[in-house]
Amino acid sequence: MTALKFTFSQASTRVYFDGSLAQLAKLVDKKNAVVITDENIAAAHAAKLKGWKIIVLKAGEEYKVQATVDSIIQQLIQLEADRKTTLVGIGGGVVTDITGYVASVYMRGISFGFVPSSVLAMVDASIGGKNGIDAGVYKNMVGVIRQPNFLLYDVSLLKSLPDAEWQNGFAEIIKHACIKDAAMFRLLENNDLAVFQKNRRLMADLVARNARIKIKVVQQDEFEKAERRLLNYGHTLGHALENQYQLSHGHAVSIGMAYAAEISRQLTGFAQTERLVNLIHRYGLPAFTDFDKEKVFTVLKMDKKRERKDVNYILLEKIGRGVVKSIPLKQLESIIYKLKTPFSQIVL
Ligand SMILES: NC(=O)c1ccc[n+]([C@@H]2O[C@H](COP(=O)([O-])OP(=O)(O)OC[C@H]3O[C@@H](n4cnc5c(N)ncnc54)[C@H](O)[C@@H]3O)[C@@H](O)[C@H]2O)c1
Ligand SMILES: [Zn+2]
Repeated sequence: MTALKFTFSQASTRVYFDGSLAQLAKLVDKKNAVVITDENIAAAHAAKLKGWKIIVLKAGEEYKVQATVDSIIQQLIQLEADRKTTLVGIGGGVVTDITGYVASVYMRGISFGFVPSSVLAMVDASIGGKNGIDAGVYKNMVGVIRQPNFLLYDVSLLKSLPDAEWQNGFAEIIKHACIKDAAMFRLLENNDLAVFQKNRRLMADLVARNARIKIKVVQQDEFEKAERRLLNYGHTLGHALENQYQLSHGHAVSIGMAYAAEISRQLTGFAQTERLVNLIHRYGLPAFTDFDKEKVFTVLKMDKKRERKDVNYILLEKIGRGVVKSIPLKQLESIIYKLKTPFSQIVL
């Protein structure tokens, strides 16, 4: 396995793009490590986890809460974890977020690493050091920014990932293509989900390419003052939709990206909404949908990215170039209220 070292403001992370879970023992001493994972991953990859001290969580966002943190801490004490212990989160974004958070508070901070096991965790959640938990209906309300010691990539873990979760991850991949990488946008246009599911080499390259995009954005702006905001493309409206309707994150972000493209058409002259909509559909994701604009706008106004009377909205100038635009709330409201749902329509 080759380690690539990426440096952030306070720490650096070793990244193994060509890794395998079977080689985890080369990175951390089994005796001084505790693995945290969830029941789905533990069941699907039991053989590779033999011999590790392990804490298995129930799967699902509803367990990304303080009660789970408390329970993990109790188990760490029982396992006699100390300052020399490394926590290894093997899982999707729920597991990596909670592992990074626990590692940051247990004994005032111990070291941790991730083996991301969902597409979303590989290209997004495990990168950037934001680790946290939800508080009631407020997602990611509590947390820290602290970088993992290592990221171990093993795309063979994706064999057991359900299709719906593949789609969720590809929403973030399309997002990266929109804001940063026009060539990757074309690569996605020339393939489809089934191709990436079948071709492990192609998928490993795609994952590494996306991880590098996110790493670079975070390196430029770890504490989200400017550049890192680009990663919120599709997420402003997306989060508001997710909050109001029973939608998966990938679906909500895809709809958010399509609408942001329409808003871009009006404000930056972006002219390729239809191309983006076609790509979103190609990966089994929805683009436009009817929703209760008043209800969703009320939630959007409360979005944490709001700065006084303006909203930082992420728009596209062209495919591969995202920009942050500060839009007065009133103007955004009138644009959203007037937005038509062109092309296909999926009703919630
Ligand atoms: N820290 C960040 O910067 C950041 C960024 C984006 C998202 N997130 C967080 O990530 C979370 C979403 O991540 P997610 O989509 O990976 O969710 P998740 O961890 O809930 O995983 C989705 C589902 O897939 C299952 N799964 C994961 N890997 C599997 C595998 N290899 N085989 C079989 N099943 C598998 C899980 O058990 C779960 O049921 C959210 O909580 C979100 O807030 C964090
Ligand atoms: Zn997202």
